[in-house]
Amino acid sequence: MKSPRESWTSRIAFILAAAGSAVGLGNIWRFPYVVGTNGGAAFVLIFLVIVLIIGYPLMVTEITLGRETNKNPIGTFKALAPDMPWWLIGAMGVLAGFVILSFYSVVSGWGIAYFFKTLDGSLASGADYEGVFFDHVESPIAPLVWHFIFMTMTVAIVGLGIVKGIGRAVKYLMPVLFILIVFLVIRGVTLSGASEGLAFYLSPDFSQITWRSWLDAAGQAFFSLSLGMGAIITYGSYLGKKDDVPSSAGWIVGLDVFIALLAGLAIFPAVFALGFAETEGPGLAFITLPAVFAEMPFGMFFGGVFFLFFSVAALTSALSLLEVVVSWLVDEKAMSRKKATIYVGLGIFILGIPASLSMGAVSLNVFGMSFFNFLDFLQETILLPVGGLLTIIFAGYVFKANRLRESANENATLFSLGKWFEYLIKYVTPVALIIILIVGFLL
Ligand code: TRP
Repeated sequence: MKSPRESWTSRIAFILAAAGSAVGLGNIWRFPYVVGTNGGAAFVLIFLVIVLIIGYPLMVTEITLGRETNKNPIGTFKALAPDMPWWLIGAMGVLAGFVILSFYSVVSGWGIAYFFKTLDGSLASGADYEGVFFDHVESPIAPLVWHFIFMTMTVAIVGLGIVKGIGRAVKYLMPVLFILIVFLVIRGVTLSGASEGLAFYLSPDFSQITWRSWLDAAGQAFFSLSLGMGAIITYGSYLGKKDDVPSSAGWIVGLDVFIALLAGLAIFPAVFALGFAETEGPGLAFITLPAVFAEMPFGMFFGGVFFLFFSVAALTSALSLLEVVVSWLVDEKAMSRKKATIYVGLGIFILGIPASLSMGAVSLNVFGMSFFNFLDFLQETILLPVGGLLTIIFAGYVFKANRLRESANENATLFSLGKWFEYLIKYVTPVALIIILIVGFLL
């Protein structure tokens, strides 16, 4: 006998879980370096524009579709459009969950390793920060051990289900996350010399913006908000019809953007105050920051706090990535949750092995990129934007925009979506996305 499908114990539990999914490495590791390499404040502004015209509408759409069917992404599209191949969007999402989590878990593992490296003094003042970073990521064994530990934690929580696993974990972890970031921001902005970093981050210089920046901002928005692959459809599917959508979506988007902005506020003043390069790229969190921490009072303590924050945020995001694949096997293939979680977790761990090794331990190239970069490229430029575009087209033209708006407004609490929302998802969002994708690729 199959047990009945679970649902969140409260609306807050859903918001915390979805915000936990959204707030992750995308905010802490990726957002600051993408801002850094794209010229600072002006890029932050276009990111906010993208969040408003693409992020929020897609967030509402995914939650509503999930709440409508109470099914995993593949089941959702099958239920709403039987006999049509739209379920392939869901299939792409399940694939994306698998792909993203494999390298996400590897990077999360680096974060846990760095938590301990901060505490044991390997990153003390004068250390060769670049050397430590490359030694770690290029070594064959240590990153895999942390990858395994991170996946084991993720599997353990997802295996316990929506109420006892994910719901309970985010209830404790999200407040911890919030306290840690406030701590780091206060430290960052009170450093002497912080003002130059604040100016870079807060006063826009539009000469730095290119067409490519719009594509980067869109890729960043999808990743950061967990959109385009059905993670939010899945979390929405554990909602009941009595639960609000428009303002919940507002909370999730708002919290995610707020934490990303705070992460920048914690990082840029420190980088500038101590004279490091803001354009460091993906190494920003692992190479520049330890150096920054080592030079400031109580730096080891703050470094430890930072990497703890990093790991906790990564964990609450990983839960949603795994849940997408697990919910599909549980709903559609009638597998038990425990079995599905363990099998999928193992599969993701295995896919993560070549990703980790391709950082330098062995040479493993696909289309001229390391396997790790190939997986990242696949999700950022194809799986998420195309998945998001197809989802919004499905909502506007197959499910129908007016029906979506009505469904989203059912039991709305704080505010309801007006007619404008239909124009947004039928014209503005898809057209903006298409232009960004085409122009971003060509120029
Ligand atoms: N949003 C998370 C982050 O910012 C990562 C993530 C979790 C994600 N679930 C997702 C990204 C689904 C894309 C799709 O780190």
